[in-house]
Amino acid sequence: MRLEYDFLVIGSGVAGLSFARVAAQYGRVAVLTKRGAEETSTSQAQGGIASVLDKSDSFELHVEDSLVAGAGQCRENAVRVTVEEGPQRLLELAALGCHFDVKSDGRYDLTREGGHSRRRIVHAGDITGKEVQRALLKHCRSLPQISFFEHSCAIDLVCDKRLPLGQGRCLGAYVLMEGGHIEAFHARQTVLATGGSGKAYLYTSNPDVATGDGLAMAFRAGARIANMEFFQFHPTCLFHPEAKNFLLSEAVRGEGGILRLRSGQSFMQNYHHQGDLAPRDVVTRAMDTEMKKSGDTHLLLDVRHLGQTFLKERFPNLLATCRSFGVDMVTTPIPVVPAAHYQCGGIDTDLDGHSTLPGLFAVGEVAHTGLHGANRLASNSLLEGLVFGHRAAMAAVAALQETQPGFEPIAPWIYKGKPDSFEGVLVRQNWEDIRRLMWNLVGIVRSDKRLLLAKRRLKWLREEIRAFYGEYVVTRDMLELRNIADVAYLIVECALLRKESRGLHTSQDWPNTLPSPQPDSFVQREP
Ligand code: FAD
Ligand code: SIN
Repeated sequence: MRLEYDFLVIGSGVAGLSFARVAAQYGRVAVLTKRGAEETSTSQAQGGIASVLDKSDSFELHVEDSLVAGAGQCRENAVRVTVEEGPQRLLELAALGCHFDVKSDGRYDLTREGGHSRRRIVHAGDITGKEVQRALLKHCRSLPQISFFEHSCAIDLVCDKRLPLGQGRCLGAYVLMEGGHIEAFHARQTVLATGGSGKAYLYTSNPDVATGDGLAMAFRAGARIANMEFFQFHPTCLFHPEAKNFLLSEAVRGEGGILRLRSGQSFMQNYHHQGDLAPRDVVTRAMDTEMKKSGDTHLLLDVRHLGQTFLKERFPNLLATCRSFGVDMVTTPIPVVPAAHYQCGGIDTDLDGHSTLPGLFAVGEVAHTGLHGANRLASNSLLEGLVFGHRAAMAAVAALQETQPGFEPIAPWIYKGKPDSFEGVLVRQNWEDIRRLMWNLVGIVRSDKRLLLAKRRLKWLREEIRAFYGEYVVTRDMLELRNIADVAYLIVECALLRKESRGLHTSQDWPNTLPSPQPDSFVQREP
């Protein structure tokens, strides 16, 4: 039986499900996820969703805060639609049964994070993402028009080959199914909602699914990729040998947490007038500077003055998780380090999620809408997923109505290669090499010399990976390795294009921010 859908949605986080629930009113939808449907970055989100819901706040202030954090690189129209459509999308989400914290007077309990001039973050305790994922998933699973394919990993997009690379229409995707066989999914409109790529770095807050698959697939298919040099590092991940990727929400500093050197001294007041609540790029750079100065492996986040009662009520998950690692935040400052957190660049799209490839949309973290510019404002990401998931769905529905009925044929997958027990070791070795290389050479502060060294090493690694991709049977590990290698290449290429320091891209060779906004850094495969 051919797998044919009006809409193929690759990804089950906030962006993919926001798209799917709207599209399902107009056609048949397949939602693919490479692990369980709830294994997403969305589920991990802690702080919340930024939105203008209070009388003391305004669209202008939220726009202004986003533009300031974005360091002159935002597309202002993307910021405006996100901010202005955000409250409506958020209220729809609440109407689906997503429970956010409210105060005794019935109004939303709004918290604060770095770079925000007002309290405007709606949250569900300190596990907002889990609640958003639960509510959206429950709703989408109840819709008969949506079929879920879990543990189904998209390999590559299929495009009409009668036109040059980057111009042929996207017809669907090849997918590695749970049982190990490969299917061609035929789609009239395809949407990448595959999330970010933090796993390209050795230390990251991201879950295992964040290997940049959608970004790499779109790049290989000829789509335009933008601004990948702007990779956001979150200031406060738990520093503990057994904590793989545990984040301490920025809301902790929003509620009064203080960053300290290991000597106990606070330092953020020396770097920015907003102190501990400065935009994220400023805080991370300051931490990097202090750690380099002292040679310390980590710094401290101090919340002891907030008291047990407040911490227990406001951050129950953080408190319990830290305790499970032997750190009691009530009595002890928490050891923290910055870690790769969010991909601000991505597949370049317009305000309706169209990529440069006909028939292909991109939404959520995988997309570059221009909202985040050179540095994302905290808690603007779930918001972007809600707003652009909806906008792209409306655009895809319009496109569906304009296209001919029926499906273009896709050639069946040609199985080749042999399984080989040695292959697992090669994958692991290259996986570690790339992630370490990215951490050491393409991290928070960069130089041309280190970037060029990374470029040379990546060229060699990508050639080797390409060779054994052709030689062995396709596995998910191998696909993810190939994808993080492509993501790493794109970050380095974009970083080399930018001859200044701006937002999240800090270069020792180009330390100044040029006075006028600079063009976006675009990379596209040659036809
Ligand atoms: P995701 O939620 O990551 O979903 C990606 C989906 O794509 C998954 O279903 C995955 O299986 C699927 N997928 C990937 N590759 C393939 C493939 N090859 N084939 C099939 N399926 C595939 N943002 C905020 O706004 N507020 C916060 O408080 C906040 N806190 C955060 C805390 C943490 C720890 C992290 C990691 C991020 C946080 N963020 C926060 C960022 C935000 O959570 C993400 O940017 C956002 O959830 C991304 O949503 P998404 O729908 O684009 O992708
Ligand atoms: C956090 O809770 O600190 C994460 C917020 C974000 O990444 O937007």
